[in-house]
Amino acid sequence: MQQLNNKHIILGVTGGIAAYKSAEVIRRLRDYGADVRVVMTDAAREFITPLTLQALSGNPVHHSLLDTEAEAAMGHIELARWADLVLVAPASANFMARLASGRADDLLTTLCLATEATIAIAPAMNQAMWRNSSTQTNLNTLQQKDIVIMGPGEGVQACGDVGPGRMLEADQIAELAAAQFQTALLDGINLVITAGPTREAIDPVRYISNHSSGKMGFALAQAAIEAGASVTLITGPVALPTPERAQRIDIESAEQMHDAALAQMGHCDIFIACAAVADYRPRQVAEQKIKKSTESLSIELTRNPDIVSAVASHPQRPFTVGFAAETQQVEHYARKKLQHKNLDLIIANDVSNTEIGFNSDLNAVTIICAENEKTLPQATKQQLARTLIAEVATRYKAKS
Ligand code: C5P
Repeated sequence: MQQLNNKHIILGVTGGIAAYKSAEVIRRLRDYGADVRVVMTDAAREFITPLTLQALSGNPVHHSLLDTEAEAAMGHIELARWADLVLVAPASANFMARLASGRADDLLTTLCLATEATIAIAPAMNQAMWRNSSTQTNLNTLQQKDIVIMGPGEGVQACGDVGPGRMLEADQIAELAAAQFQTALLDGINLVITAGPTREAIDPVRYISNHSSGKMGFALAQAAIEAGASVTLITGPVALPTPERAQRIDIESAEQMHDAALAQMGHCDIFIACAAVADYRPRQVAEQKIKKSTESLSIELTRNPDIVSAVASHPQRPFTVGFAAETQQVEHYARKKLQHKNLDLIIANDVSNTEIGFNSDLNAVTIICAENEKTLPQATKQQLARTLIAEVATRYKAKS
């Protein structure tokens, strides 16, 4: 099961005998489809070599906060932003104390302060150290800070003691890591998403299209599935794998996308129009390949149906969400589209910024509805998709 497909996980390894098990944790996380980057403390490197963890993770191991070369490759803030989850396994008593007191005296604690991702720890220590009131106070503080605590388990310990403090097994940790991404926000909801470009045929070998990669739509589909929705993904031609458990419908033209979308009405609760639909198509599709016999060639175009407007004016209208890619006065034009297309919500982005939008892995958007608007800062399309799905779920529930 690829439950962690496309997820960026920072595995923090701290100094304890259970550090040898972190090798197995990496393997399980990668089995689940995660992209793993390892950050080691000084003490961890006494127990297991960075080389082992680098080989298993397939990425260079990060260690130093003050190494200019390492910072140039991927600095602590970049790492903190990259992460969808920071998982520290094993987490020693010392690390728990440092995390509880908000220290930033090495790379791992610093990026724990800098990240907006969920932080989870799998404690591992001697049973007396675990029971010690200082550790229990730290544990309490960490729980209050919404840090996820995985375990510890009970049993025979490396030192010969028996009791609580054993790190959970790698399988259990990977399972719990995957669970962090499963919310029940859209349980029982049927959600339809359009994604990618459309292709409008000129003749049997040529077409009009655009640069849409489909990444944002596919990320939304993945996030909606994780939130418990049944997802139908109507997509133009893209080079992306289908998210597990999505029902994918492949189309080429805007008219085909229109028909496929309207066929979903009646069993669709939420519709998200993320596709970059061609506004026009050639009025006539030549039956044979057009020959270059003349100096100039005119192709007459005719308007394509507006799919999201058709959905929003359907008698069995779902909660309808559109996107607005703009190059100027982004919010002004997006708000006009919200009204004109009769949408519940529009997600606006500035495509004049080449760092984000079409084909990029990053995006930054503003969510606009009749009453208010909310700007989400630049993040990966996967991270944004999770936030957007949570916002859509909240507003859908408020409306229904
Ligand atoms: O009008 P514009 O193309 O800027 O609107 C963008 C929004 O409308 C997107 O949500 C897009 O998926 C949707 N759209 C559509 N059918 C069209 C054109 C745009 O569903 N023919």
